[in-house]
Formats: sequence, structure tokens, C-alpha cells
Amino acid sequence: MRIRPALLADITQLMAIEQSAAQAFLQLPELAWLASAEGLDEKAHEAFIAANGSWLAEDNQGEALGFVCLSLEGQALHVHELSVRSQSQGQGIGRQLLDQACAVAGQWGAVELTLTTFAQVHWNGPFYARYGFEVLAEPQLGARLQGILATERAHGLSGRCAMRLPLV
Ligand SMILES: CC(C)(COP(=O)(O)OP(=O)(O)OC[C@H]1O[C@@H](n2cnc3c(N)ncnc32)[C@H](O)[C@@H]1OP(=O)(O)O)[C@@H](O)C(=O)NCCC(=O)NCCS
Repeated sequence: MRIRPALLADITQLMAIEQSAAQAFLQLPELAWLASAEGLDEKAHEAFIAANGSWLAEDNQGEALGFVCLSLEGQALHVHELSVRSQSQGQGIGRQLLDQACAVAGQWGAVELTLTTFAQVHWNGPFYARYGFEVLAEPQLGARLQGILATERAHGLSGRCAMRLPLV
């Protein structure tokens, strides 16, 4: 397995990975609809790739296994999406993509990773907590993360939280 910057030619694979990854939500009746929800569109992938914020994990045969999309927001590197295709989950690829996000954060001078996720879904909040992320309480959120959570709520997502991983 290796992790490399994603290219425009990878976008079809990135979209297929996100769709495959989301099948995990079929286990949870109240969130099963996410398995068929729209993921990042082509334009969003193009923007992450153009900004060097899209990283792809692939196996030795060049088969795409997972990806992470990142953007620098002030002093924070925000994890917009982390997905590992269904058959490849639980093999450490998600953790390695987070390691890559930490390396990018170091190169870009970010002092923390941030993200929003489902607090109680075991492969979301608890997965990030085991990696070292902490849940941010309301007063710690700041306008940016408050805004993301408000937008998510407006799109019908409940039970979301914001998390941060301090890097310095
Ligand atoms: C969340 C997600 C990206 C995690 O990726 P992943 O590759 O499954 O994660 P990892 O394998 O690195 O870690 C999962 C667990 O498997 C364990 N693991 C590592 N190698 C393993 C192996 N060979 N076999 C089994 N388990 C293994 C890890 O130790 C980890 O457990 P830990 O958290 O207690 O350390 C993936 O589950 C996913 O795409 N889910 C659907 C989409 C989603 O919810 N994305 C997040 C949006 S916020």
C-alpha cells in the first residue's frame, strides 16, 4: 500500500470509494439513507486536487483503496472527507490516511487537525478519539466549526460533533 497525491484521472475512483465506504451506514437503520446519499461531486474533488489536498491510498497493483480530502483553514487542517472502500476497511488504511493528514499539516504549518463527524457511530467519533482527537465543547468551537455543524443540521444530520487533534 502507498499513499500519493490524487490526480484528476482518479476522480471516478474517489467517488466510487466514497459510495462503497458509505455502505457501512446500512448497519444503522436511522442513518441507512447515507448509503445512497450524494458524496463529494466532481467539482469538489477537482478543487481539492488542485490545492494538493487530496490523497489516495492504493495497493501494489494500483487499485484505489481510500482517500482523504484536506484544506487549510487558518491554522487548522480540516479533514473534509475520509473514506476507505468497504472491502478494505479495518486494515489500518484509515489510520494511515490520518498519518498522511498529520504530515501534510506539518508541511503546511497547521497546528491542529479538525473535522466533524457522528459522535456515536463507532467508526466515526470513537475511531477518531482512539487516534487522539478530542470532542470540542460548544464554547471551544469557533465560528468556522459552528458554521459547518449548523449546515450539517440544516441538511438533516443530527448527532454530529466537531473534533480536533492538536499537533503542537
Ligand atoms: C472511518 C473509516 C475511514 C476508517 O477507515 P479504516 O481503514 O476502516 O480504519 P482503520 O482500519 O485504520 O482503523 C479501524 C480499526 O481497525 C483496526 N485495524 C487495523 N488494522 C487492522 C487489520 N489488519 N484488521 C482488522 N482491523 C484492523 C485499527 O486498529 C482500528 O482500530 P482502532 O481504532 O481501535 O485502532 C472507514 O471505516 C470508512 O470509510 N467508513 C465509512 C465512511 C465514513 O464514515 N467516513 C468518516 C467520515 S467522518
